[in-house]
Amino acid sequence: MKLVLLGPPGAGKGTQASNIVKKYQIPHISTGDIFRKNIKENTELGLKAKEYMDKGLLVPDDIVVAIVKDRLIQDDCKKGFLLDGFPRTDAQAKALDTELQNLEFNLDYVINIEVDKDALINRAIGRRICKECGATYHVEFNPPSATEICDECGNELYQRKDDTEATVKTRIEVYLEQTKPLIDYYNKQNILVNINGLQDIDKVFSDITDVLGSEK
Ligand code: AP5
Ligand code: MG
Ligand code: ZN
Repeated sequence: MKLVLLGPPGAGKGTQASNIVKKYQIPHISTGDIFRKNIKENTELGLKAKEYMDKGLLVPDDIVVAIVKDRLIQDDCKKGFLLDGFPRTDAQAKALDTELQNLEFNLDYVINIEVDKDALINRAIGRRICKECGATYHVEFNPPSATEICDECGNELYQRKDDTEATVKTRIEVYLEQTKPLIDYYNKQNILVNINGLQDIDKVFSDITDVLGSEK
């Protein structure tokens, strides 16, 4: 299964991605997670990406495309993958198409999770993430059993630096301008599937698996 998850910031891409990759046994490729890991490890890439991420802006295309290309040629992607948060611009979508052609891969579906602006802001502001394993929670919609502690591994939760109201608003603007046009791009390729992301987490997931089916 070769998939792309599209949707505005806070739509629930990461939340659904972790369920999808478990069910279909494919690698989860989140460009945002790759950048956050590099920031944590103080790499050169992390320092560069941080300049943009903290402001809610996109990291330049050439940097992101190079990372995804490197990842897609790895062996574990032959059987499938889930791209989460990539592509995000017209140039990234075109670069991805070229790379997929080189690798003789076809995308099965581009899953577009639809959520309106007010819900996005609330979701992002209430989000908490595990420092250790990356599990994602929400103080109201998906709380951990013990306050600020991860159910999966018992470590502390933190709030992303770009999850302030002002930065989320910038991220939504950036999405509307640069990423939303990709809905049309993939619609034209007949691989776009729209999913109502305003339902609870389990219902969103069951709508996705209804489309993907049970095969791996
Ligand atoms: P990235 O990490 O990709 O962030 P994003 O796209 O802004 O999306 P989020 O991760 O914020 O949201 P999500 O859709 O994953 O939602 P989640 O499941 O966590 O990118 C961050 C930055 O990195 C970018 O701004 C950019 O700078 C850079 N970057 C990354 N990729 C790039 C690229 N390709 N090009 C250039 N720059 C790039 O859910 C959110 C919250 O809602 C959680 O608390 C969750 O528990 C809750 N929730 C989820 N689903 C539901 C539901 N159904 N009902 C109620 N609550 C829910
Ligand atoms: Mg995410
Ligand atoms: Zn954890």
